[in-house]
Amino acid sequence: MLIAYLLISSSLATTPAKTCIDYEIPVTIEFLNYIIAKPFQSNYDVVDLVSNLASRTAATDFQPYSGAALQTASYTISATFCAPGDTASSTGIVLLASHGLNFDRSYWDPSISPASYSFVDFAIARGYSVFYYDRLGVGKSSLVSGYLAQASNQVAILQNLAHEIKEGNYTGELGIPKSLILIGHSFGSSISAAAATVEPDICDGLVLTGFSYNGTNGAGFLEALQPRIAATQSPGKWHQLDTGYITGVDLFSSINVFFKAPDYNPAVTKYANENKQPFAINEAISTAIVDTQAKNFTGVAMIITGQYDLIFCTGQCDAVIEHPAASIFSKAKAFEAISFPGAGHGLNFASNATLAFKRITDFLGANGL
Ligand SMILES: *[C@@H]1O[C@H](CO)[C@@H](O)[C@H](O)[C@H]1NC(C)=O
Ligand SMILES: *[C@@H]1O[C@H](CO)[C@@H](O)[C@H](O)[C@H]1NC(C)=O
Ligand SMILES: *[C@@H]1O[C@H](CO)[C@@H](O)[C@H](O)[C@H]1NC(C)=O
Ligand SMILES: *[C@@H]1O[C@H](CO)[C@@H](O)[C@H](O)[C@H]1NC(C)=O
Repeated sequence: MLIAYLLISSSLATTPAKTCIDYEIPVTIEFLNYIIAKPFQSNYDVVDLVSNLASRTAATDFQPYSGAALQTASYTISATFCAPGDTASSTGIVLLASHGLNFDRSYWDPSISPASYSFVDFAIARGYSVFYYDRLGVGKSSLVSGYLAQASNQVAILQNLAHEIKEGNYTGELGIPKSLILIGHSFGSSISAAAATVEPDICDGLVLTGFSYNGTNGAGFLEALQPRIAATQSPGKWHQLDTGYITGVDLFSSINVFFKAPDYNPAVTKYANENKQPFAINEAISTAIVDTQAKNFTGVAMIITGQYDLIFCTGQCDAVIEHPAASIFSKAKAFEAISFPGAGHGLNFASNATLAFKRITDFLGANGL
């Protein structure tokens, strides 16, 4: 099923013409399902899990899983593919974008001030095409339990989507891309790096935003966000989600995790909070299990993370973002790590996000992508 639409904006000179197509994509995957030992009965259980995970000794004395089982399942992934409206300006290069926790695919193309925050528009204006999708359990993709959605199945789905795109499926009139770049934000970066670890030739370029290999285990993320069961927080919106879906307690916990003063517009923090998406507790926990060290990746690799990223740099990326990333990507054709000045974890919503976008496309362009 597809719906094509042509968007031509005249209101903003910087918003490029783009041709977008929505797809509902069937995928069948095999994955190792890590089973959470104690599903939440209430927010008391959520708080208890968060404090157990954040314990200094969690690695040795806390085990959230009761076991793991190989599983095969079929889902539908909802995606959008956008290409430059003026096909003559297209590079034929596709960016496959995976969003992080707390967002849906609109992270890449928010409706608030697209000229300042839309990565899709920025990339389109430079001739790239962008394929962006709702991860399993989010937005219009298949709804599954928050105890089931986890890194293993999200990685398998991403691999599946990359294979389809490389064969010219779901790329509109572009057909087979000249090159494929995986780009992610946060958890979306973790699954992109994991896909390039198990399958080093999956893409020609790998861009990891809101990510580092030199952080804490992410427990600080949950302590700062103070998640609550989404269905209890907003039954009107989220009654259909089981207790495995959680979401930040309020606007300020969201700012604490995703923004850094003074590098944001308060209206943008409100927009992000009003459009936030619950995430699966198992996604938050399972990231630590998958191998994200893509040591055999030989394409072009980049890490770009807000200088003050709480989750991946414990609030300061300077001087740590390139270690041990540079040695992990020692086989990459080119590698750059950037601690992006001023920004917090939600890089695309930082005041000067377009400068970060420019660092990304400049680096890709300088390396043949
Ligand atoms: C691409 O689509 C064709 C036609 O539907 C299908 O036969 C092929 O398996 C798809 N490619 C992948 C990698 O799924
Ligand atoms: C982004 O803005 C912040 C403050 O809002 C500033 O500190 C930082 O230098 C800016 N980044 C760049 C790359 O100009
Ligand atoms: C990288 O490639 C080498 C040689 O083929 C192989 O032994 C190793 O297991 C690979 N590493 C990963 C992380 O897959
Ligand atoms: C993180 O960065 C610091 C500072 O460069 C470095 O000393 C440390 O070894 C890095 N951690 C890892 C795991 O490489």
